[in-house]
Amino acid sequence: MKENILVATDGSHTANKAVEFASEIAAKFGSNLTIGHVLHRRADIDELAHMAEAEHLIKHAAREAPAEYDTPPATMGALLADMQSGAETARLITLIGDELLARAERRARDMGVKNVAQRSVNGKPAKAILDLAEEVGADMVVLGHRGLGAVRTLVQGSVSQKVNQHATCTVVSVR
Ligand SMILES: Nc1ncnc2c1ncn2[C@@H]1O[C@H](COP(=O)(O)OP(=O)(O)O)[C@@H](O)[C@H]1O
Ligand SMILES: [Mg+2]
Repeated sequence: MKENILVATDGSHTANKAVEFASEIAAKFGSNLTIGHVLHRRADIDELAHMAEAEHLIKHAAREAPAEYDTPPATMGALLADMQSGAETARLITLIGDELLARAERRARDMGVKNVAQRSVNGKPAKAILDLAEEVGADMVVLGHRGLGAVRTLVQGSVSQKVNQHATCTVVSVR
């Protein structure tokens, strides 16, 4: 059966479904589960508005941000716009990534997965996910069929498409 499962999350609703699907299988077969996230880039800011649990993530990041807020900014874009430098923006994006990984790990553990690891990596999402799959020796990669860019007209996201095309192991695309 599947020993090493990699699930990739961008924080979207569909990726959350992928985390639940991968967790269900990992719990059932006692597989190791790695939850991978490719850090977003500044250019993706508009897409971050589509994150599941965006409100929670904004609150979390605002607490750690250099500016003091009485009320957290309404959107991820507004929060990132307040950053004074590229370094501050990068730090906030890392915080957001860590928090969404932590939430995904909690979900996996709640669903009964014993061996869970988190990996936050840099790079172009599809290539970074494929590299991570090799590195952890994944025999199955689970992704969402769509992600944060789901408002665009493509029927399947480009990351999901590329991983499915190039992976050497089974790829499951969750709808
Ligand atoms: N930055 C990322 N880090 C980890 N996984 C990602 C990332 N981007 C996309 N994915 C994975 O690929 C799936 C499909 O996303 P994607 O192909 O980018 O579609 P869309 O164009 O709708 O955003 C997501 O549900 C997620 O599982
Ligand atoms: Mg995307």
